Amino acid sequence: MRIVLGVGGGIAAYKVASLLRLFTEAGHHVTVIPTEAATRFVGTATWEALSGNPVSNSVFDDVHQVNHVRLGHEADLVVIAPATADLLAKAASGQAGDLLTNTLLMAHGPVLFAPAMHTEMWQHAATRANVETLRSRGAAVLEPATGRLTGSDSGPGRLPEPEVIFDAALALVQGQSDYQLPLAGRTVTISAGGTREPLDPVRFLGNRSSGKQGVALAVAARNAGATVRLLAAHMEVPPPAGVEVVPVETALQLREAALAAAVDSDVVIMSAAVADFRPSEVSDTKIKKRDDSADPVITLVRNPDILHELVELRNSGGHAERQQLIVGFAAETGDSHGDVLAYAEAKLERKGCDLLVVNHVGADKVFGQDTNSVVILARSGSEPQEAAGTKTEVSATIISRIGFELNHVSPRA
Ligand code: CTP
Repeated sequence: MRIVLGVGGGIAAYKVASLLRLFTEAGHHVTVIPTEAATRFVGTATWEALSGNPVSNSVFDDVHQVNHVRLGHEADLVVIAPATADLLAKAASGQAGDLLTNTLLMAHGPVLFAPAMHTEMWQHAATRANVETLRSRGAAVLEPATGRLTGSDSGPGRLPEPEVIFDAALALVQGQSDYQLPLAGRTVTISAGGTREPLDPVRFLGNRSSGKQGVALAVAARNAGATVRLLAAHMEVPPPAGVEVVPVETALQLREAALAAAVDSDVVIMSAAVADFRPSEVSDTKIKKRDDSADPVITLVRNPDILHELVELRNSGGHAERQQLIVGFAAETGDSHGDVLAYAEAKLERKGCDLLVVNHVGADKVFGQDTNSVVILARSGSEPQEAAGTKTEVSATIISRIGFELNHVSPRA
């Protein structure tokens, strides 16, 4: 496919180098047209090297090739990223002062704008009107991601992640009307890893969770267009780029972070392995072994069930304006009293969450491995859905199921 990648003059231009890579690695021929302002952020040499094609934004370069007409005509897709307020305004008013705006006027195929700007600019009536105009003419304008912006401010206005723009672009070319991606504009909170319950300043009770599944879910949710908050207990893998990370250690810290994050979340996924118990006392000093003392005894007390609390908060109208979807995880083994699914169905009922992702643990363990096999149970009563493969593949299935529930299934309790 022939793609024109128009780069606007915003700090997010550097992220577009990754988008360019995604396009070229997928075998597409990409012509990059940066605005003059964009070249102040990322130089022409970078675009030429990464695209393997000459780069210009002047209508007076290679005039014999009539680039200002040809590039738009030949393109199967035009992607503008970052689409700045200025570029959206120029496109909406049909200006043609440089090669990029000429190309937009000559484009025959789909055009995708991926905006990035400060929140006030995005919400300004002028920008809203420009976006409306462009959409009414058939252009696709992505919703920007929400999160930290260039300065200390945060809000809607971040450039969607390169993978998000990539997926949206392909969906657009395939004629899918839902190029906005299933979780666009949604905030998703995901807990990951294993909590650690301290005994003294150097010792803790922990578990074998690696955090791989939670991180894979965070990537899948991010790529589906969501703003992702990762509540990270102990993990063996680094958190992904493009998500907000809230580090936690204990179950009580995770509870506090989860209840706070839930207030403005459309989805909460509890994939962390939360310790059900914690030592009743934490020693301020290292517990010493002494020949004259008896063997120490550790007394445990129950930790709160965070998932259950989240459901109760939601059901009591704690954040009434949102129809929040809550997803639990369960590691189950069958025994003489019942099979895995029977236990899982009872747990779904007990916890009250909307979806329960069930891992069958046993001979082939789940912890730390890169593959997984799960069954997704729904409280709505729909058929159990199976997913198997790498944790990335399983996560993609879970996230698309969540998108389906949010967009197509009626409101919850
Ligand atoms: N969970 C939680 N708070 C806890 C323990 C678990 O929120 N204190 C969440 C986990 O993140 C997971 C789900 O609950 O999403 C299932 O946890 P699990 O330990 O399997 O369930 P339990 O209710 O503890 O049942 P069991 O008797 O099987 O241990």
